[in-house]
Amino acid sequence: MRRNHITKKLSKLGMTEIRGLNLNERFDDELLNEIKSLWLNSGGILIFRDQHITSQQQINFSRQFGTLFGSPEGVPMQDTVSRYLHPDHPEIYRVSNQVDKEGTPTGRARAGTYWHSDVSFREKPASASILYAKQIPVVGGDTLFANAEAAYKGLSQAMKDILAPLQAVHDFAIAAASQYEKPVVIRDDLKGANRALHPVIRTHPDTGRKSIYVNPGFTSHLDGFESKESDSLLKFLFGHITQPQYIYRQIWQEHDVIMWDNRIMMHFAISDYGHEPRYLERTTLIGERPT
Ligand code: SIN
Repeated sequence: MRRNHITKKLSKLGMTEIRGLNLNERFDDELLNEIKSLWLNSGGILIFRDQHITSQQQINFSRQFGTLFGSPEGVPMQDTVSRYLHPDHPEIYRVSNQVDKEGTPTGRARAGTYWHSDVSFREKPASASILYAKQIPVVGGDTLFANAEAAYKGLSQAMKDILAPLQAVHDFAIAAASQYEKPVVIRDDLKGANRALHPVIRTHPDTGRKSIYVNPGFTSHLDGFESKESDSLLKFLFGHITQPQYIYRQIWQEHDVIMWDNRIMMHFAISDYGHEPRYLERTTLIGERPT
């Protein structure tokens, strides 16, 4: 990259770290395009090291890539997570295992401890998510990412042909039933606005590359199949995508900002750090309708 930025590939899948870039700075078009292009060719994740940014600066940085969930020009995420948003910045979703002086959670504890792709249950799911690590446990708290584009490439042509015309239902109710405590789930979230039908194989709007777009967290079933048939095929796909060769493990350093592409990735936050404080802030970009 130009200026003094140093980039390094961290994985055969392409995940790339950048040092020497200050996310507080307003990027000119050339630099922004350079970052976008690097991101699209980084196996789905760019890692910006050593960042010291406020919540507002994270929002400013993120907005350069599109419209954010929770912003005045966007739409909110599901009501169930509204209690975890930053009180002054509804664009920021807080991940935290801590409580404030009044005992109120300062974010969602153990958020995303299951394989999922952010907000896939909406007609327009998340494109990018940008997560800033403000406090990281001494040991543990890594996040796993599975690259479903590489996994697609790893399928036989016969299986690609079977999957090509299929559609799957994504439903927040799946995660609501298994990942959230009952009193926390807002019933209105289960009424239909958080359910969507998407192609099982989607084509990335910017790269034209194909990936498998189902995830255990939110995909309820394959459209038109008997439930046993759907369960077997989805089980195969989930197992296929999460094979070691498609996984990148983010071992967090404090002040990392990472930007991942939900259109080609699933992620899983490992909850193995007990009560050690872990605090991150996430902005989430509204993507396009998958095709
Ligand atoms: C998330 O699913 O956005 C949370 C990821 C993490 O805490 O590592």
